[in-house]
Amino acid sequence: MKWLSVAFALVAPTQAALRFGCASLTIQRLDPLVEPGRSPSSHLHQIVGGNAFNVSMAGDIGEQGTCTTCTFSEDFSNYWTAVMFFKHTNGSYKRVPIMANDALPSGIKGGMTVYYTQQDFNSNGNVKMTAFRPGFRMVVGNPTSSAEQTGLRFVCLDNKSTRFPELANFPTKACKGGIMTVHHFPACWDGKTLDPPDHQSHMYNTVKNAFQNSGPCPASHPVRVPQLAYETLWDTAQFASMWPKDGSNPFVLSYGDNKGYGTHADYVFGWKGDSLQRAMDSSCMFNACENGRPLKSQVVTAMNKCAVKQMVNEDIDGWLTELPGHSM
Ligand SMILES: *[C@@H]1O[C@H](CO)[C@@H](O)[C@H](O)[C@H]1NC(C)=O
Ligand SMILES: *[C@@H]1O[C@H](CO)[C@@H](O)[C@H](O)[C@H]1NC(C)=O
Ligand SMILES: *[C@@H]1O[C@H](CO)[C@@H](O)[C@H](O)[C@H]1NC(C)=O
Repeated sequence: MKWLSVAFALVAPTQAALRFGCASLTIQRLDPLVEPGRSPSSHLHQIVGGNAFNVSMAGDIGEQGTCTTCTFSEDFSNYWTAVMFFKHTNGSYKRVPIMANDALPSGIKGGMTVYYTQQDFNSNGNVKMTAFRPGFRMVVGNPTSSAEQTGLRFVCLDNKSTRFPELANFPTKACKGGIMTVHHFPACWDGKTLDPPDHQSHMYNTVKNAFQNSGPCPASHPVRVPQLAYETLWDTAQFASMWPKDGSNPFVLSYGDNKGYGTHADYVFGWKGDSLQRAMDSSCMFNACENGRPLKSQVVTAMNKCAVKQMVNEDIDGWLTELPGHSM
């Protein structure tokens, strides 16, 4: 195994970690990954990233977008999750607004915080991080799951900086500062398949909860890719006065899940050219990666301005008699 030690010696000890904000791009019932071509899709999503987002998406997304809601202006990827609703005891639903993370520049409109990390925030553990390729997509979690899923978590916020404890499902009391949903994606790729029919089997999960070092990749999925994670902060506190008297959780995800085990997230890779690989090969951390060192970046007003038009004509913001797409 002499070649192996040579290979390791050639890997530069980089320590890049990206953490950045993406404003809301759109909230609508579309899912070009799991339900391409279907408008409206089965449930509502909140989507951030590049404006090439559409009912169907194909080809190199990094070459198709003209703007993005993310800090890094060469990142036309799309990132999305289900949407949270409040269910009143009278049976009506109201969409829970999304708040900006206080770890990011102020003024970002809704959206998510996105991470691409290596072994941890300070090291790549001497393992080469291979960026995703054009056409790469993946899903983590499954709306039909009824059991706890590693890396998919809820945090009951005292304030926007609360990070623990991480729960496997919805908090069962009113949370003073809102609820954060966290989605950690697997970080081991089979090295070949861009997007299999199940959108998951090309990946292998050695990721644990929180931002812990993910374990070594198995021979079946040998390529270590950056570990992708999303954080979304939901402003549930504004519903505290309407919390049910019987103490039951009044929040529900847009596919009708009030436990939270079905929490899931989707990723369509769309970084332009080799920009993500260049970042992973550098030693920048968080906002020190901005302003061309090595990634091009943009100001919050430009992030907030990027949007796609509504393609599904339905009310999502009033008091609704049912979740969008869930009529009986
Ligand atoms: C979205 O796709 C439709 C075809 O389904 C196309 O007509 C439209 O131009 C696309 N929009 C964008 C912004 O690419
Ligand atoms: C339920 O309560 C909300 C908040 O008071 C109200 O706006 C909504 O119209 C009510 N829905 C029904 C069906 O009464
Ligand atoms: C936020 O809440 C955490 C506990 O979740 C606490 O440790 C921290 O001091 C709080 N920060 C502020 C600014 O109140």
